[in-house]
Amino acid sequence: MKIVNLGSLNVDHVYRVDKMIVGGETKACRSLSDGAGGKGLNQSVAAARAGASVYHAGFVGTGSELLLRALEKGGVKQDLLEQKDMPNGHAIIQVDDAGQNCIIIYGGTNRCLTKEYIDRVLSSLGQEDMLLLQNETNLVDYAIEAAHARGIPVAMNAAPMDETVKRYPLHMLRWLVVNEIEGAALAGGGSFEETMANLTAAYPGVGIVLTLGSAGVMFRDGGRSIRMGSARVPKVVDTTAAGDTFLGYFLTGVLEKRDSAEALRRATYASALTIQSPGAADSIPTAAQLEQAMASGSLGELDTEDHRD
Ligand code: RIB
Repeated sequence: MKIVNLGSLNVDHVYRVDKMIVGGETKACRSLSDGAGGKGLNQSVAAARAGASVYHAGFVGTGSELLLRALEKGGVKQDLLEQKDMPNGHAIIQVDDAGQNCIIIYGGTNRCLTKEYIDRVLSSLGQEDMLLLQNETNLVDYAIEAAHARGIPVAMNAAPMDETVKRYPLHMLRWLVVNEIEGAALAGGGSFEETMANLTAAYPGVGIVLTLGSAGVMFRDGGRSIRMGSARVPKVVDTTAAGDTFLGYFLTGVLEKRDSAEALRRATYASALTIQSPGAADSIPTAAQLEQAMASGSLGELDTEDHRD
C-alpha cells in the first residue's frame, strides 16, 4: 500500500518582511533563504515522515539538487521522477512577522507533464494504493480520469484554487482536501457550515476535508461528520506548508486504517508543529517528533464533535 504523489516540486525563495508588501510599494526584506517546497514535495515529505511508503512522481529540472536532497532526507522514493533539461518550478514567498505568507509560483517543469508520462506513473499503482494530486501541475483532469478508469483511488488537494479546478472531474475523487477559501470558491458558501454542505452536495461519495486554519477542520465521509478545533500554538513562526503537513499526515492515517477522528487529530497536531518552524519541507515534523509533542500535552486538547447519520 503506497502513495504516489504526482506533484509539484518548487525551489522556495523566502523573503522575511515585517508586513506584506502592497501595490506600488518597494521595501527591503529582512532576510532571504532558499528551501525545498512545492505543495507536492511538501505533501510527499509529510506523508513519508508520518510513516507512509511514498513515491514522488513528476519532472525535475536543471539544478534540482536541493529538491532531491529534501526528498531523500524526507524518506520519499524517487524512482518515478524524471530529469528534464529545463528550469524547475519555483516560488517567491513573503513571510511576515505574524508568520503569514503570500506566494507566487512559477510552474517550470511542474507544468510540462505529458499523458505518456502520467500513464507510466499510473502503471506503478494498484487499487490498494492512492494517487495524490494538487493543482500545481498540468493535466490534472487527465490524471484523475485515467486513475479512475483503472480503479485507483485519488486524493486531491485543490490548491492553488483557480477556474480550472471547477472543470476537473472531482466527482471521481476518493478524497478532496481544501481550505476554507478554496472550498468557498469551488462550491460557494458564506459560512464554514454552508461551504461544507455545498461541497458534500456537489461531490456525493467523495470524502471531504475542509481545513479552517486557526478554526480547525471539518470532515465528512460515508455518513460521518467531524468538526475538530485547532491545537495550542504559543508562537506562529511561518504557516508555509501547514496545509501540506495536514494532508500528508491525514492521508497516511487513512492508509494505516486509523479511525478518521484519530487521523484528523494527528494531522492537526503535526501542522501545529510545522507552523512553529520556518520553511516548507524543512519544517515538517517526523512521526517521532509528533508522538513526543502529543505525549507532552503541550499542544492542548482538540474540541471534537463527531456525528454519524
Ligand atoms: O504550500 C506551500 C507551498 O506552496 C510552498 O512550498 C510553495 O512552493 C507553494 O507551492
